[in-house]
Amino acid sequence: MHVRQPIVLYVDDEPANLAVFEMSCGDSFEVVTAGSGAEALAIVREREVGVLLTDQRMPGMSGIDLAEAVRLEQPEAIRLLITGYSDLTAAVDAINRGQVRRYLKKPWEIHELRSALRESLELYETTRRLHALEGRLFEVERVYALGVVAAGIAHELRNPLSWITANLSVLKEGLAALQTDLLAKAPDTLSLARRLPEFLEAVGDAVEGASRITEIARGIELSTRSQRDDDLVDLNEVVTLTVRSVQGELRKRARLDVALEAVPAVRGSRTKLGQVALNLLVNALQALPDRPRAENLVSVRLAAREGSVRLEVQDNGAGVPPEVRSRLFDPFFTTKKQGGTGLGLAISKKIAEEHGGQIGVVSEPGHGATFTIVLPAVDPAPAARPAR
Ligand SMILES: Nc1ncnc2c1ncn2[C@@H]1O[C@H](COP(=O)(O)OP(=O)(O)O)[C@@H](O)[C@H]1O
Ligand SMILES: [Mg+2]
Repeated sequence: MHVRQPIVLYVDDEPANLAVFEMSCGDSFEVVTAGSGAEALAIVREREVGVLLTDQRMPGMSGIDLAEAVRLEQPEAIRLLITGYSDLTAAVDAINRGQVRRYLKKPWEIHELRSALRESLELYETTRRLHALEGRLFEVERVYALGVVAAGIAHELRNPLSWITANLSVLKEGLAALQTDLLAKAPDTLSLARRLPEFLEAVGDAVEGASRITEIARGIELSTRSQRDDDLVDLNEVVTLTVRSVQGELRKRARLDVALEAVPAVRGSRTKLGQVALNLLVNALQALPDRPRAENLVSVRLAAREGSVRLEVQDNGAGVPPEVRSRLFDPFFTTKKQGGTGLGLAISKKIAEEHGGQIGVVSEPGHGATFTIVLPAVDPAPAARPAR
C-alpha cells in the first residue's frame, strides 16, 4: 500500500493563486489546494495535514478562523497565514494568540515560500515523532506499573497460600489416619469409611492447586528482579542518541547546552539507561514555562568522577517545591494535570539502583532543577593495560 505523505494544504479564494502555487510547489511537496475555508475543512477531515497555508481575506471564513478550526481537528498541523500588507495587524495578533505560527507576505517570494514550507514540514515531523516517543514512554511506564502491581499481589498471596498448603497437608494426613482407624476399630461406620478415599483425593487436588498458585506467585515476584543485564555500556553514546531523539523539540523551546565527555563504560542495560536519560530530558522539557526560547535553558553534562560516571540534566524551569521533594521518586507521584503517570522518576530510580548507582535532585524553586545520576564505572580490564 502506498503510504500517504502529510500534505501541504493551500487555501485561497483566488483560483489564479491556487494554480500558481501548485505550479511552483507541487513538485517538491504533496500539495492540495482549496478555494474556501469550508472546502479546506472537508479536506482536513480526510487527509493528514502537515502544513496549512491560508490566505487571510476570503469570503465566508477568514484565514485565521480556518486556522483555529484546523487547530481543533489536527492540533499538530503547522498553520501559516499568507497576507497582504493591509492585514498585517490581524496576522501579528493571530501569532500572539497562537492561532498561526507565522505569516508570509503576499505576493510571495518563491524561495522564501519553499523554505518556509520545508521548515514547517520538518517541524511537523519532529513534533509528531516526539509525541510518538512520549506515547511509547507512557506505555513502558504503564507496563512497569502493571509489573509492580503484579509483584505486589504475588507477594501478598504467598503468606495465605502457605497457610492453605500447610493446613491441607495436616488434613490429608489426618484423613488417612482416620480411615485406618475407622476400618480397624469401628467397622459399623463402614459406609463413611468407604467415602474417605474420595475426600483424600479432594484434599490431594487442593494441595496440588495451592502449590501451583505458589509457583506462579514466585514466578511473578522473580520476573521483576531477574532481568540481569550486563553489557558494557558507553553512556556517551547512549546519551548522545537520546539527546538526538528529543533535540528537535527541545531546541524549539529552549537553548540546549550539551557537554558530554568521554567516560569509562558502565555495566548494565543500554535500553534502560537510555530510558533514564529520556525520562530526565522529557521532564526537563515539561518543566519549562511558556516564555521566549532564549530564556529557557536545558543542559546535559556527562563526566567521569573517581570511579564513577555522572550524568546531569539541568533545566531552569519551575523547580521542585520543598514540600514535594521527598515524594518525587515515589511511584505514581505526579504534579502534572495531563499526561503524567508519576512513574518516570520511580523507574529511573529503580534502574539506577539496579545498576549499583544513585539518582538525586537539587533544586531551587523557581530557578529550575538538576537531576543527577551516578553509576559505578567499570575498571578497565587488566589486559587492556600496556604491556611492560
Ligand atoms: N525537571 C523537573 N523540574 C521540576 N519538577 C520536576 C522535574 N522533573 C520531575 N519533576 C516533578 O516530579 C514529578 C514526577 O516526575 P515523573 O516521575 O517523571 O512523573 P511525571 O513526569 O509523569 O509527572 C513531576 O510530576 C514533577 O512534579
Ligand atoms: Mg516524567
